[in-house]
Amino acid sequence: MTPPLSADLLEPALLPFGESTMLPAEAYTSPDVLAWERRHFFAASWVCVGRVEAVFADGRRQVATTVGDIGVLLLSEDDGGVAAFANTCRHRGHELLPEGGTSVKRAVVCPYHAWSYDLSGALIAAPGFREVASFDPGAHGLVRLPAEVWHGWVFVNALGGAAPLSSHIGGLDGLVAPYAPSSLVLGATHDYVVAANWKVVTENYHECYHCPLIHPELCQVSPPTSGSNFDLPGVWVGGSMDLRDGAETMSFSGRSDGAPIAGVDPRTVLYLGLLPNLLLSLHPDYVMTHRMVPLAPDRTQVECAWYFTSADVDPAYAVEFWDTTNRQDWGACESVQRGLSSPHFSPGPLAPNEDAVHQLVTTIARGYRDGGLTG
Ligand code: FES
Ligand SMILES: [Fe+2]
Repeated sequence: MTPPLSADLLEPALLPFGESTMLPAEAYTSPDVLAWERRHFFAASWVCVGRVEAVFADGRRQVATTVGDIGVLLLSEDDGGVAAFANTCRHRGHELLPEGGTSVKRAVVCPYHAWSYDLSGALIAAPGFREVASFDPGAHGLVRLPAEVWHGWVFVNALGGAAPLSSHIGGLDGLVAPYAPSSLVLGATHDYVVAANWKVVTENYHECYHCPLIHPELCQVSPPTSGSNFDLPGVWVGGSMDLRDGAETMSFSGRSDGAPIAGVDPRTVLYLGLLPNLLLSLHPDYVMTHRMVPLAPDRTQVECAWYFTSADVDPAYAVEFWDTTNRQDWGACESVQRGLSSPHFSPGPLAPNEDAVHQLVTTIARGYRDGGLTG
């Protein structure tokens, strides 16, 4: 497989920390690189498509989405499980639902010639084929794709053939499990469209070198130089930050309007990025996610969601703090995107407290070189 960027362009990003740089401009601006990433970093890997109760809200049984460059039909099975199939009819390939489409029906009926399938993907009717002796309905079920629910979030491997989700997640599970996210309640979501590449958003998330300049509110409750990074198995990057004395959580006042999550460190916030598209922030009293969908080399949809210990919590204290912080970050990311689009841009070195960015950049650069994401 041909890497999307040449070895000499990637070499500076693969140097040891202290000597390495960010990725070359093409990694953030080229439509060809994004097309390659959609297939090899997204479709070939495990992508988070959302929280299970949000994906199947309002009694939906069928949801069509795109994972990387592949159309996927998510089905809510009768036993409560989640199944994923190629959104491709086994007759002549029509999509079963249009991208973004949903249905509450228990049969999947192709809109072209009405082949129909049940929620396990089995073909149940193909008009006109009853008289065709050679036709075997059992050989024409939908193409099933690997799908799993991890702590309440649905993950799909749209190309098939990825290593198990458990090895993709690796040591991240031990950090996330104490927060018991599937027992938390979704309190709020915000959708943003950021005029920057998905990796610019991810890199920004993984460093607080910028915090003293653009996040005065955050620095009030969390010292920007605190914490340390993890180096555990799995295809993720992340670290911790501490809360200042007297701060209970990340909010404008440092006070929480929620309740502590039992059994987790009350003084620490974890910032974890599971490649390619789910950023998790674990606070003493809430969990926040940023789920990214690349729209173009310079456009990324970001769904931000907040989860609390009960539906009675008013989420405003966390949502307003992070909406302010998010907008500060998006402004910086959009400026970076414009700057690295300049013909005068060249990849700069990483500072001593950008070690998580180095981990991320080397994971991406190795992924380009080797043809996919590995831990
Ligand atoms: S393409 Fe679906 S029924 Fe013909
Ligand atoms: Fe930030």
